Amino acid sequence: ERVDGHGGVLLPGFVDLHTHLREPGREDTETIETGSAAAALGGYTAVFAMANTDPVADSAVLTDHVWARGQKVGLVDVHPVGAVTVGLEGTHLAELGAMADGVAQVKMFSDDGKCVHDPLLMRRALEYASGLGVLIAQHAEEPRLTVGAIAHEGPTAARLGLAGWPRSAEESIVARDAILARDAGARVHICHASTAGTVELLRWAKAQGIAITAEVTPHHLLLDDSRLQTYDAVNKVNPPLRESSDCVALRQALVDGVIDCVATDHAPHAEQDKCCEFAQARPGMLGLQTALSVIAATVVGPDGLDWRGVARVLSERPAEIVGLPDQGRPIAVGEPANLTVVDPDAEWTVSRSALASLSANTPFDTMTLPARVVATVLRGRVTALDGQVRYR
Ligand code: NCD
Ligand code: ZN
Ligand code: ZN
Ligand code: ZN
Repeated sequence: ERVDGHGGVLLPGFVDLHTHLREPGREDTETIETGSAAAALGGYTAVFAMANTDPVADSAVLTDHVWARGQKVGLVDVHPVGAVTVGLEGTHLAELGAMADGVAQVKMFSDDGKCVHDPLLMRRALEYASGLGVLIAQHAEEPRLTVGAIAHEGPTAARLGLAGWPRSAEESIVARDAILARDAGARVHICHASTAGTVELLRWAKAQGIAITAEVTPHHLLLDDSRLQTYDAVNKVNPPLRESSDCVALRQALVDGVIDCVATDHAPHAEQDKCCEFAQARPGMLGLQTALSVIAATVVGPDGLDWRGVARVLSERPAEIVGLPDQGRPIAVGEPANLTVVDPDAEWTVSRSALASLSANTPFDTMTLPARVVATVLRGRVTALDGQVRYR
């Protein structure tokens, strides 16, 4: 099949290390099929589906099921993320080896939504993962510092009377796990870095030669806690939106490579779980269909990333971090390719009801953003073209 690129930019297919598809358990908010459609339209050829489903993806039966379902839908490779602990209870390690050896060949383990809290358990997880050659991803939130907390602990939250979610909750875990990874000789990946302090810790750890990597979300690059003034719970997310100085530090860190890549943390939620009191609302934001445009709006430019750099943060680095052999790299002639064509000059206005996701909780609703995905190609087959999904 021929695709007219309209003079656009040709990039390797995007790889998202952090996606919540709510299957099994909350298929009213997202399924592997609807999430795959959103991913293909967003330019993704591979996504990593987080383990906090119901039941939790803590065994090979479940992780293999997620992989098989994604292959059946056929729009994007859905790589399951295994849970580090059984049932997300945090008391003992799941069978990481069985999941890694399954059909899905699980490459990354996380308890996202609830970090691996006990330092001894984290140390064991890192040692176990290191032996298996797989990656532990850390949600990076010290739960004893965020009990009852819902918004960034700063002047805005104080003025609005929202309970504070402090920087120290994130930074103490980043520091702890950098040091645990050093001593275990293991690799650790920091999910959704959100503070200027985390950037400094990553810079320090990398300078020591510690095998630490990190992702940042599009929403933490663009949005700050001034958005909370309306008390609209669409702005509630873990970690919380921080201050504009944090956004600046995160952008620079992505440009400099201190933060390795962009991950969406696409977190669909039902209307009733978002249209309620801020304190009661569930945290999380949609991200798959808006990521490229938010990156274009925040970090692409003369002092930021060129399109080669966009390929690095949306595709190459995430593929390297998890070790995907067929993603994120240049293709040889005749090899089935994973590609995304972007129109850099397009502008579009986000409409929450027009997104392919089953949920509508995008903070970017009504915003006009630059750059748009024109086509997505998975192993030589067009999966999205001009805003339409193409099933097999
Ligand atoms: C995530 C979700 O909804 O699953 N929410 C979020 O705000 N990022 C889980 C999490 O990472 O806390
Ligand atoms: Zn998380
Ligand atoms: Zn924790
Ligand atoms: Zn998440």
